[in-house]
Amino acid sequence: MSDRIVPDPVLRPASSRRSFLKYALGFSFVATLAGVLTPIIGYLWPPARGIQVVSGRTSVGPITDFPGGSGRVMPVGNRPVIVVNNPGKGIRVFSAICTHLGCVVLEKDPRVAYIQCPCHDGRFNPVTGAVISGPPPRPLPAYEFEVEAEEIYVGRPIGEVYGE
Ligand code: FES
Repeated sequence: MSDRIVPDPVLRPASSRRSFLKYALGFSFVATLAGVLTPIIGYLWPPARGIQVVSGRTSVGPITDFPGGSGRVMPVGNRPVIVVNNPGKGIRVFSAICTHLGCVVLEKDPRVAYIQCPCHDGRFNPVTGAVISGPPPRPLPAYEFEVEAEEIYVGRPIGEVYGE
């Protein structure tokens, strides 16, 4: 008679099934944890953005493209600016990035006396960039600009732009 040990055909699959379930449960726990923690970490420590401030001037178009009271959001370098034509006060250029949480402000409607952020209804003075109402903690930073031969050229920001 032989002393060979014969594996129990009933226990072996159960053990394998148990291992598989253990690994599957572990994997789903880790995946869930990563899914929850990734956006939290991204919010708390946002990644550094590849910001490049334009060293030269950027033409944003002829002054006739900016009717009195209006403000247009335009790209300058890799940042949006809002170019406002204030009746009696002239052209102003501000960062179009809200100083609250970084939303891009709306184009200025000539019928209203403010620049509006659509996210939390922050409102800014179109002449000074100062906060009129809402949660933004700081004014919109102004940009250097020049008007030459009826063309508007935008330079560097004066002050710190949100996210830099
Ligand atoms: S992001 Fe502009 S008001 Fe909140």
